Amino acid sequence: MERETWGSKLGFWLAAAGSAIGLGNIWRFPYLAGSNGGAAFVFIYLLIVLTIGISVMLAEFTIGRHTNLNAVGAFQKLKGGPWQIAGWMGVVAGFVILSFYSVIGGWTIKYILSSFTGMISTSTDSTSYFLSFIANGPQTVLYHAIFMAITIFVVYRGVGKGIENTCKILMPALFLLLAILIIRAVTLPGALAGINFYLNPDFSKVTGATILAALGQAFFSLSLGMGCMITYGSYIKSKKESLPRAAATITLLDTAAAFLAGFVIFPTVFAFGATPSAGPGLTFITLPKVFALMPGGQIWSALFFLLLAVAALTSAISLLEVVVAYMIDNAKWSRQNAALIIGGAILLLGIPSALSQGAMTINIAGKSFLDFLDFISNNILLPLGGLLIALFVGWVIPEIAKKETTAHGTFGFQSVWIWICRVVAPVAIFVIFLGGLGLF
Ligand code: TRP
Repeated sequence: MERETWGSKLGFWLAAAGSAIGLGNIWRFPYLAGSNGGAAFVFIYLLIVLTIGISVMLAEFTIGRHTNLNAVGAFQKLKGGPWQIAGWMGVVAGFVILSFYSVIGGWTIKYILSSFTGMISTSTDSTSYFLSFIANGPQTVLYHAIFMAITIFVVYRGVGKGIENTCKILMPALFLLLAILIIRAVTLPGALAGINFYLNPDFSKVTGATILAALGQAFFSLSLGMGCMITYGSYIKSKKESLPRAAATITLLDTAAAFLAGFVIFPTVFAFGATPSAGPGLTFITLPKVFALMPGGQIWSALFFLLLAVAALTSAISLLEVVVAYMIDNAKWSRQNAALIIGGAILLLGIPSALSQGAMTINIAGKSFLDFLDFISNNILLPLGGLLIALFVGWVIPEIAKKETTAHGTFGFQSVWIWICRVVAPVAIFVIFLGGLGLF
């Protein structure tokens, strides 16, 4: 059977943007920026994204389109040997990340529904509401299963009919929702204090740890380091399509979504005198408290969690597709079987993560099961994968890479790009890696 492709350039751009824009943009970025010096963090993040981030994304697209294969198959075809490990780590990372990402995706679905059933009320204590939800094992597993079922359904339908069509509807919807929420947030009385907090550059808060946080966030947010963009790049039909232009567009859309999410969260939080707190708390505890004080708060809450669910779904699809593409290309499974069986296995692996947040004590190495998987993937699998991908393009296939990216004539930055892949990105990633392991 012929390998699937994207129906159009726009379809590919929206699917790749859908992968990139996720939970990482809407709750993690604003919180990181807020606690790491506001605009100072945004500035450093931009520098990293526009040099290293965009270069590694272009590297992944190049490997993908050149081989028209999944992450493992692509390395096998180009070089084989130990380089395949990069592909393998990607497939494992896709499996592992999706198992807990889907648990949080399930929370967002629960919160859309709960917006109308008493959660958004001044008499509800949002902290105990959240804690009693995550302590309810059957409920967390149920919502995780619902989220996984939707993800499996989309991937089951295929690249064009499933992923591309879904993203063509959901990505414009996501930007519309974001726009509506921004207008509401910045016109609240007292919104300015939030904007000041977010945008006031405080360079005294910038330390080595800040730069590491920005690097790690850039990789996670752009979906880099595990062959996600190799897989999506492998479905590009035309050699004429400009990969540098695609990488630039998707990087800008992702960065815009993250930056704009801050304009929803901080004005809203500050307008009602709440304090921006860390982690899941900001989204699942602080915001419901704030929505309860807003006129029409139930609607605003439902819209906000819908935004989060849409963002999470289009990212989850891309994680499942990495593993499914491998099973189709290499193990010759049918897409339908791959989506159902792999998706089902990921659903099962997610159950201990879902339960580990309060229903039961499931700890590994002193962390909850979910936090442990999160730690392994963000601090080990993704940085090592990104390191190998950059080195591979920079040192093993630089000539192929140059040819693959010159559809519209040599692009001026080409040798800069290759040198970022050769030296700058590997060094930077290695530093994040050591930092993530707490080695300095
Ligand atoms: N980028 C997504 C987010 O910001 C998450 C994600 C999807 C991802 N695919 C990925 C992260 C691949 C790393 C690698 O939420």
